[in-house]
Amino acid sequence: MSGAGRSAGPALAVALIAWQRRHGRHDLPWVGSRDPYRVWLSEIMLQQTQVATVLAYYERFLQRFPDVAALAAARQDEVLALWSGLGYYSRARNLHRCAQVVVREHGGRFPASSAALATLPGIGRSTAAAIAAFCFGERCAILDGNVKRVLTRALGFGDDLAESRHERALWQQAEALLPERDIEAYTQGLMDLGASLCRARRPACDACPLAGACVARAQGRPEAYPVKTRKLRRGRREHVLLWLTLGDSLWLVQRPQTGVWAGLWTLPEFDSDEALAALAAGWPGQGRPLPAVLHALTHFDWTLRPLHWPLPARLGAEPRRRVEAALPAGRWASRADALAMGLPAPIRRLLEAGPPG
Ligand code: ADE
Repeated sequence: MSGAGRSAGPALAVALIAWQRRHGRHDLPWVGSRDPYRVWLSEIMLQQTQVATVLAYYERFLQRFPDVAALAAARQDEVLALWSGLGYYSRARNLHRCAQVVVREHGGRFPASSAALATLPGIGRSTAAAIAAFCFGERCAILDGNVKRVLTRALGFGDDLAESRHERALWQQAEALLPERDIEAYTQGLMDLGASLCRARRPACDACPLAGACVARAQGRPEAYPVKTRKLRRGRREHVLLWLTLGDSLWLVQRPQTGVWAGLWTLPEFDSDEALAALAAGWPGQGRPLPAVLHALTHFDWTLRPLHWPLPARLGAEPRRRVEAALPAGRWASRADALAMGLPAPIRRLLEAGPPG
């Protein structure tokens, strides 16, 4: 690696800070806040979700949980329900756990250093640094996905970050670039640049404050960074979802606390039509297939094929007991109650639309 971190450092930071002040985002509700609760909440929400989506969730969360104590005292179900639609639900569970740790172990105040923040649930090194820079003015480096793109391009960093030694090297470079002052504007500038001009496809290099110093631009191939030598192979999955209704109620199951949609409520899921048919043999009524729902997750594309099965409204106690005995553990919920629970976004959309006919 070149000594770019040392030589380009001051010029890069100066240009970025000036650009952030003029062209960066100043209209976002968390920008300029020094309240660790608000900054933390925004950073967690923004980890895998775009600003435009986060805005409404952020306001709703703050209304319902105005401070860390209110969030810590909430039930997990309510936190997940408010999070529903933001995806990556481990964030919501960690958010809740983090609030509880802050209340229990830190007297309700977030610790005031990036090192201490990084010990809390759901707060990784970059998020800890962002909170510490914004709230406490600590000189520390952030390195989220967008910032990796900005810095690998600016520095011409050509090693694959999938290898941890290369990632460590980029962290060091990021630290070497830090300005002596104005860490808030610098940190926000990196984020704003990564979210606007320095986008993954067709970056707007002509308008970029770093254009003069950017190695990738000088090479004429900004899109080649960050370099990825390994291909991520996306998997595919397909499941049948049983949408079993009894009058206004439907049967919901809670997913385990780990894995996809951990802790959320959903419809019972089957590997195949045959698996479902075996379970439902002899049930009154019959299932009607609904259009498949395609859902893209980070590592696989998921095809969900809902089967709506309305049980007769006046189901006797004994047939009802037989149906319930065959079902995976769960509970009946009215549609309104279900919609107030923590549901994955595709399931919520399905239930909101209601069964056709
Ligand atoms: N993405 C992550 N953190 C952000 C912030 N503070 N402002 C805008 N986008 C962000």
